[in-house]
Amino acid sequence: MPVKIIVGAQWGDEGKGKIVDHLSEKIDIVARYQGGANAGHTVVIGDQQYVLHLIPSGIFHHQVTCVIGNGVVIDPIALMDEINQLKQLNIEISGRLLISHNAHLIMPYHKLLDTIREQSTEKIGTTGRGIGPAYIDKFMRVGIRIVDLLDRDVFVAKLTRNIEEKNQILKKIYGNPELDVDKIVAEYEEFDKLIDEYVTDAALFLNKALREGKQILAEGAQGALLDVDHGTYPFVTSSNPTSGGACTGLGIPPTSVTSILGVVKAYTTRVGNGPFPTEQSNEIGETMRKTGGEYGATTGRPRRCGWFDAVALRYSAMINGITHIAVTKLDVLDEFDHLKVCTGYILDGKMLKSFPTNIRSLENLTPVYESFEGWKSATSSIRSFNDLPAKARNYLNALASFTGTKLQIVSVGPRRDQTIFIA
Ligand code: GDP
Ligand code: IMO
Ligand code: MG
Repeated sequence: MPVKIIVGAQWGDEGKGKIVDHLSEKIDIVARYQGGANAGHTVVIGDQQYVLHLIPSGIFHHQVTCVIGNGVVIDPIALMDEINQLKQLNIEISGRLLISHNAHLIMPYHKLLDTIREQSTEKIGTTGRGIGPAYIDKFMRVGIRIVDLLDRDVFVAKLTRNIEEKNQILKKIYGNPELDVDKIVAEYEEFDKLIDEYVTDAALFLNKALREGKQILAEGAQGALLDVDHGTYPFVTSSNPTSGGACTGLGIPPTSVTSILGVVKAYTTRVGNGPFPTEQSNEIGETMRKTGGEYGATTGRPRRCGWFDAVALRYSAMINGITHIAVTKLDVLDEFDHLKVCTGYILDGKMLKSFPTNIRSLENLTPVYESFEGWKSATSSIRSFNDLPAKARNYLNALASFTGTKLQIVSVGPRRDQTIFIA
């Protein structure tokens, strides 16, 4: 097989956590390949809800080894918090979590710069988790990696050099107080002891697993339209959530990837700023937010809501190589009289043939909608596709057909069991 990539096909929060957890039942390894604690992946088991930020969503299946790949930027404070929370729930972490020694660290100055930049320049609406500044340092080749934590002298030297530079920026550009090197060193010193047992050459581990025929899920964070190369730049995150990112973010060859599943919400949401052609800043959007509980799993911010955008999804399917989709939150649409799906964009009187990635076009286009009758009945207890109301099946089949993909999973509630597989 062996690598299946699970990718968010919209602007994030599609329900990747639920789908990864569900698929992990017969999987050996689940590996996160990019992003950081900006992600909030929710898994609901029974009446218990868990939100994961850095640890892969396969952790609740005892046979799964979870890997945090080199492409992820790790905030050690957030990671240790998450590990401790899981331990308190009696979830075994030792021997089941591996962290790439090449992953970069998020330092306090990254979080500070992220927050300050958001106040002083055109706002992206970031999560404030230091993601952009950490990736800047990675590509500037001054980043501090997990492996550096394990050698105190190297760590202190790199950190001191970085803080000296950041202090200049903080003071001279933003008029901010300087950071104290000793305090940060002291704060981070313990992490080497805490993290040591998890650190490994993750690429080596994964490639060995591939040779042994192990089943691997690569778990994307964020979504394709937030991709720094292919998303709605500059209103994007600073990594590659698209499927291509899985290979560079884990150190596995493209030839090992055998399938790519796009996770898709039955409507659309977006958190933070940036264009959103099918947004409904009205009662429709309000109803979606209320019924779907559309508030960020990481920041608690209300998510912007709107109709399903098949043009954006067709683009996402193309960029990612998505052949199959998992449609989540169908139940949220249960009470709508009518539903709309955007099937085209008109810009300057012309029908666009493809999704534009420049902001001006995206902000000025007019969506063309196709209407569907609502099914007006509860779907959350249904467990087979054929038992869904005919109008719901019609809606789902239309989503797949508009986007050139096959329907593989339909999710009708947040719980593990509220899932329909289509053979
Ligand atoms: P992720 O970032 O893609 O993992 O998604 P989030 O966890 O941020 O957001 C998805 C939210 O929808 C979470 O609160 C899930 O518990 C919830 N959810 C997932 N699937 C369904 C579903 O089919 N129906 C409903 N009502 N909620 C769902
Ligand atoms: P999951 O994995 C939804 C958004 C932020 C902002 C932009 C940049 O849970 O789907 P960043 O902090 O990454 O620099 O913010 O990206 N964003 C997300 N939106 N889901 C996420 O993750 C997100 N992670 C970042 O709201 O618009
Ligand atoms: Mg989320």
